[in-house]
Amino acid sequence: MDVKKIKTYSNKKFKISHGDVLECFKQVPEKSIQLIFADPPYNIGKNFDGISDKYEEDFYIDWMEKWIFEINRVITDDGSIYLMNSTQNLANMDLICRKYFHIQARIVWHYDSSGVQAKTKFGSSWEPILHMTKSKNKYTFNSKDILIEAKTGSQRNLIDYRKTPPQRYNTKKVPSNVWNFPRVRFKMDEYENHPTQKPYALLKRIILTSSNKDDLVLDPFSGSFTTGFACKMLDRKFIGFEKNKEYIKIGIRRLELESEYSKKELEKVKQRKTSNKSKKDHDNTYTPNLFN
Ligand SMILES: C[S@@+](CC[C@H](N)C(=O)[O-])C[C@H]1O[C@@H](n2cnc3c(N)ncnc32)[C@H](O)[C@@H]1O
Repeated sequence: MDVKKIKTYSNKKFKISHGDVLECFKQVPEKSIQLIFADPPYNIGKNFDGISDKYEEDFYIDWMEKWIFEINRVITDDGSIYLMNSTQNLANMDLICRKYFHIQARIVWHYDSSGVQAKTKFGSSWEPILHMTKSKNKYTFNSKDILIEAKTGSQRNLIDYRKTPPQRYNTKKVPSNVWNFPRVRFKMDEYENHPTQKPYALLKRIILTSSNKDDLVLDPFSGSFTTGFACKMLDRKFIGFEKNKEYIKIGIRRLELESEYSKKELEKVKQRKTSNKSKKDHDNTYTPNLFN
């Protein structure tokens, strides 16, 4: 497949584009997207189906600015952007984003660490997410849709004597900027064969907070299509880009789109453990063009 040729799969509400992020962005009109969630390759040597995500730092930063520029082009004036990355890239990402958007919150996604424990340094158990908006004050924030239990009020049943007359503490509150969601693990119901699959619960909170029913949501690095799946569950429209054919198949299955693949072929992607097999398919059909 030619780098510039993009294959799409769609129905009335969802569209998946198989191709390089910068090429796919060319299909999107300016100021047309209400919410963008972007979770790019981390540039720390993760193995994405046999393809390493490690690049020279200068190239990576330059590339990051190119697609952030595209995000700025397609987001609506009252739109919101959530951008994740590895902790290693947080500083650079923050500096670039400040040029284009208002940073409303620097969120810590905290999860339980398991498996190999670091012995020579403090192991990492969080990932940063920038919550940003195009306008400083005019944006969607559906606080009532994302309330969580406020322990002081609901479990300890305390009374706030600073109020006149004294009142019970609220039993619900808007979450702070530290979010606790377990990572997706093998054999969990939602598990897909992708090394950095984000949990449905994380995307659910983002989508409920910053979009309304039928709004258009974009994920330029869709991976296992958690964002697309959450849009399906929460009644939003969705556009997703992804360069890896195997991950495109996950998206087609999760969004129930028509395609040339058989049901059996689409199911197989869920079960197969990461291998180098599709690197071959990948290289034969399409060369990812990261730095054009
Ligand atoms: C960190 S993962 C995203 C994971 C996703 N949020 C999920 O929940 O599964 C990044 C994804 O970006 C894709 N990717 C990397 N470079 C790309 C490019 N130049 N164009 C399009 N997709 C790319 C990778 O194949 C990978 O699936």
